[in-house]
Amino acid sequence: MLAFFAALLVAAAGEEVSEALASDDQCQGDSCGLNALQLRGTKEEELLELEQEQRWLKDITTKEKNHFKHILAPLQKPIVTNYQYLVVLDSYANYTMEKIENATGSEVVWNRKSLLQQAEEEMEQEEMEDASTYGRRRRSVSGADLPPRARYINKILIYLNKEMDAVWNLNTIVDRKRWGVGNTITSSPYGPHGEHPERWRANGTFPLPLAAPVSPVLNLTNTLTMHIKPEEHKYDNKYAQQLQADYQSLIDNINDASKKCNDLRARLFKMDWYANKFIALPSGVWNKIDAQ
Ligand SMILES: *[C@@H]1O[C@H](CO)[C@@H](O)[C@H](O)[C@H]1NC(C)=O
Ligand SMILES: *[C@@H]1O[C@H](CO)[C@@H](O)[C@H](O)[C@H]1NC(C)=O
Ligand SMILES: *[C@@H]1O[C@H](CO)[C@@H](O)[C@H](O)[C@H]1NC(C)=O
Ligand SMILES: *[C@@H]1O[C@H](CO)[C@@H](O)[C@H](O)[C@H]1NC(C)=O
Repeated sequence: MLAFFAALLVAAAGEEVSEALASDDQCQGDSCGLNALQLRGTKEEELLELEQEQRWLKDITTKEKNHFKHILAPLQKPIVTNYQYLVVLDSYANYTMEKIENATGSEVVWNRKSLLQQAEEEMEQEEMEDASTYGRRRRSVSGADLPPRARYINKILIYLNKEMDAVWNLNTIVDRKRWGVGNTITSSPYGPHGEHPERWRANGTFPLPLAAPVSPVLNLTNTLTMHIKPEEHKYDNKYAQQLQADYQSLIDNINDASKKCNDLRARLFKMDWYANKFIALPSGVWNKIDAQ
């Protein structure tokens, strides 16, 4: 899955390179600069103003394009690392879930949202949308109206943001499994076999997982939180400014996802602790555990 993901990106990026190279140094209509005839008789300040305005609206330079490429390329690695962290956390969530399923003899329902969860997610979504107005986690604008070099960089940003979407989706899945386990525990106040354990029947076969997954990602001495620092750069050109802002919010997004991942790991461990406590309880006795 991950390999496929990476291959996809390489292929996609390659395609863009040739396209962008083809259009790289063409100059487009008016942006080629003023010709001498037009300039004759213009006062010096006007000329200066005009030049400034032109710089503002011109495509980014080849040098700027290469610079953006150079600072964006290394961001793929931490994004994939974030994803790999979550794959390990997913295996750990599976582990806790399988223990609970084995103890209760029924499936943990995790892929169905509760009303509260729906409300929370909607609020989070709104927060994200609000935040995007101020630049945080902002999506790159659609590239259709960008000049070629800026569009090329914008496309790289779009690919990286798509990868980040996959990271956030997996984070949501793992957290939902955690939530499903907690919900089973909290809503089974009489233990794994219920209030009348003599009447309990397993609803299927749920083998006990053999061992907890082992990984450096599950070692609490290793933090998963990243602190990537964006390169600061001021530009006169509006496209360069926009790309710089998108680059910075992508880094904020990567750092934020890694921190959420680190928090999620702690919550998964806590839930596993609740799960063990729940599994060990005698059934038929009121012993409600609030695991939410
Ligand atoms: C977790 O379990 C699901 C369903 O059984 C499976 O598809 C997925 O690959 C598992 N994840 C890991 C990381 O083992
Ligand atoms: C038992 O499992 C079946 C299918 O696997 C499901 O439709 C049913 O709701 C389950 N019953 C209980 C009590 O969980
Ligand atoms: C729980 O796991 C044990 C060991 O794998 C197995 O013998 C038992 O049948 C499982 N229980 C259920 C309800 O599947
Ligand atoms: C956890 O990581 C630390 C440092 O990386 C290492 O010294 C320790 O042995 C690891 N613990 C386990 C259980 O692997």
